[in-house]
Amino acid sequence: MKILEKIEDVKREIRRIKRKDKKIGFVPTMGYLHEGHISLIRKAREECDYVVVSIFVNPTQFGPGEDYKRYPRDLNRDIKILKKEKVNLLFVPKVEDMYPKDFKTWVIVEDLSEKLEGKFRPSHFRGVCTVVLKLFNIVEPDCAYFGWKDAQQLVIVKKMVEDLNIPVEIIGCKTVREKDGLAASSRNTYLSEKDREKALCLYKALHKIKEMVELEGIRESDILLKEGKKIIENTEGVKLQYLEAVNLKNLNPVKKIKKGVMVAGAIKIGKVRLIDNIIF
Ligand code: PAJ
Repeated sequence: MKILEKIEDVKREIRRIKRKDKKIGFVPTMGYLHEGHISLIRKAREECDYVVVSIFVNPTQFGPGEDYKRYPRDLNRDIKILKKEKVNLLFVPKVEDMYPKDFKTWVIVEDLSEKLEGKFRPSHFRGVCTVVLKLFNIVEPDCAYFGWKDAQQLVIVKKMVEDLNIPVEIIGCKTVREKDGLAASSRNTYLSEKDREKALCLYKALHKIKEMVELEGIRESDILLKEGKKIIENTEGVKLQYLEAVNLKNLNPVKKIKKGVMVAGAIKIGKVRLIDNIIF
């Protein structure tokens, strides 16, 4: 596995690979890799000839007071995992190379970025879209792999690619969960054993809603969300930020659950913020 820091070095390597007409698969990450990331990498490995992973804790997608500084980092551990997964190239850019002092250009996907997560993290998707487009321009992948765990991010990146005619195929990969249902996340490492138990309430709420839809045939969002919120609000030490049923295309709230609807939520346990969703 090649490990490159410099943008120009990556571009040179990519030019070399493209001359061989190889299909390039790309998995952008912020590192501290877990089974969720690994599932994306395996899919890329299956479908492409040359797999690129980036690790970059992108400062512009964190708001003031968020966890940029304490976001978990362990490059040596990540490198071992990536070598085992037979990744061809790891790109670990420096903040000052990605965002030089005179950086002025931002990518904003209007409307979609203001919904759900956007209400609590107003400049988050501006940072995500800007860094993802920069990474696409550096890596020039044929396919890029994103997790449904961050469904809004996936929907927004797809929209950006469509609107800006970016020649990359975006591939969504299903959420990987731990044994008890908790969605794998780098941020789970913040949780004490007790808080981890509490964190499960978001998954339990989503699971309950799924059961009510599939087993009882209840489809009214009001009834379902009320039941889900009850589970979260009855968990001591957990604060509900939102639980919404939305159309997966435009992220607008829907009155009834049907195919193409997502129920998504965010909770806070102390300083730790977690998101999850289910898709019908
Ligand atoms: P990060 O949180 O490291 O996630 C990298 C990719 O892994 C994203 O596409 C995310 O959806 C996916 N992922 C995370 N947890 C997952 C899980 N449990 N199951 C399946 N996929 C999962 O998302 C980001 O980084 C950043 O915003 C990034 C796109 C790299 C831009 O900075």
